[in-house]
Amino acid sequence: MLAPAWSLLKEQATALGNVGLAGLLDEPGRFDRFSISADGLVCDFSRCLATEAVLSNLADLALQCEVPARIKNLIGGAMVNGTEHRAALHSSLRGTGPVRVSSLTGGRSVLDDVATQRDAFLAFADAVRDGSRTGSGGQRFRHVINIGIGGSDLGPRLVADALVSAHEPLEVRFVAGIDGIELARALRGAEPATTLFVICSKTFTTLETRINAEAAKAWLLKSLSLADAAAHFAAVSVNDPAMDSFGVATDARFRIWDWVGGRYSLWSAIGLSAAIAIGSQSFVELLAGAAAMDRHFQNAPPRDNLPIMLGLLSVWHQNFCGITNHIVLPYDQRLALLPAYLQQLFMESLGKSVRVDGSHVDYSTGCPVWGSVGSHSQHSFAQLLHQGNARFQVDYIAAVNAESHDTDQGHQAGLANLLAQAESLARGARKADVEAALRAAGMGDADVQALLPHKLHPGGRPSNIILMRSLSARNLGTMLALYEHQVFVQAVIWGINPFDQWGVELGKIRAGDYSASLAASDFSKLPPVGKYISRWFE
Ligand code: F6P
Repeated sequence: MLAPAWSLLKEQATALGNVGLAGLLDEPGRFDRFSISADGLVCDFSRCLATEAVLSNLADLALQCEVPARIKNLIGGAMVNGTEHRAALHSSLRGTGPVRVSSLTGGRSVLDDVATQRDAFLAFADAVRDGSRTGSGGQRFRHVINIGIGGSDLGPRLVADALVSAHEPLEVRFVAGIDGIELARALRGAEPATTLFVICSKTFTTLETRINAEAAKAWLLKSLSLADAAAHFAAVSVNDPAMDSFGVATDARFRIWDWVGGRYSLWSAIGLSAAIAIGSQSFVELLAGAAAMDRHFQNAPPRDNLPIMLGLLSVWHQNFCGITNHIVLPYDQRLALLPAYLQQLFMESLGKSVRVDGSHVDYSTGCPVWGSVGSHSQHSFAQLLHQGNARFQVDYIAAVNAESHDTDQGHQAGLANLLAQAESLARGARKADVEAALRAAGMGDADVQALLPHKLHPGGRPSNIILMRSLSARNLGTMLALYEHQVFVQAVIWGINPFDQWGVELGKIRAGDYSASLAASDFSKLPPVGKYISRWFE
């Protein structure tokens, strides 16, 4: 049953169709009413396709769908992931949450368990960085290679890439892909004696990770004994027996819990490689930034609550304004991996078509999320954003200050472009203005009329701008937690479970069957294109 606010929103969407975004943008005070600043971030959503009345109705929708109570349940450790009978306590990894959930910890404090593991993995990270933790021959590690995929790769990879400084004592690389190419590239220039592999896998059964971990072991064993190779592995998992049989030393393994979802696990020991890349102090700041957003999410009323409003606006755009894509455009090379990270967070969480009670939805839920660094996008796909007929909303993201004053000029140019893109998408280019510009450039009537349709920009394309003072560890943590909570809000409104991912299983099972066929050169069990595999196999 949809909440009463839902039908009112439908009426409002119809009414708004006659006004359009251009009619709303210049309302006095719109920015003040359509922006929220919280914990070092400001989000300007004045270019959304909504009026004040829509926002207040959306806030009502949140209350009718009991969003505040659901947030309490989430952070309080309730079993919010019904299909897997699990809580989703990622906020406790940054110190927010219940002290005790007896059913999860056998009566121990969740926060104590978390702190014990956190102290251990951060101490390990610093020991690797300062050279007190060495390889088997006593040499300090020069290369750290994270082996993991999905949530065991994307978050740590993003954080390491965003925050690593130019003067690090070692290099951290990431390997996820199954075909061996990424590993081979990560091993270039690395020596077994000075390389540490961090195997991250919640389950320790993921095919890609297992294949890469075995290949890494084989690489080490070319020059080290089995006993010595053990000093070159650390691992993070819930699966102790699998870590035993792989041969991970007990003082180099770190536990997570089944209540940490893969795509929400950056904050746990899964973040070990990121912590090695940036140091424990920065990692703690990352956690503190996320915790600040947790508190805001728990305490701010819906209309002032950043994740709630962003979630509601996404629902509004998708379900009432026909938006079908969510595009993420950071104007900062350090956030180049953010779109990929958010792709998993949003699409694995919201790519569901049944509600928690098993009934089918008859409205759109998770949509495709994609993007790139903003300046790159302007020279590839932004043409479609300006004049194509796909329907999308954009999140523009930037730090106001550059990483250093050496890059001020380029950074400011990026900021100017971000603002220009958002304004151009929203306002478009009106016929009268384009026509006047063409005439002013000396063009004759016939040419003006021929060119005019190609130069028009319809505008009315919604976007958010998320700004932070600088891309610090703290601000990055705050922003990532903001997106996690936005996803949760959308899931609550849509009535779906954002914490399971059954859809990824079917393909895995089938791939197992096909792998067996390929290994046995039995091509008859493959789909018809298998003919070519059999013909071309060397
Ligand atoms: O296949 C999808 C998935 O289960 C993700 O949810 C998860 O982040 C990834 O695989 C990796 O899983 P694991 O950490 O268990 O190797």
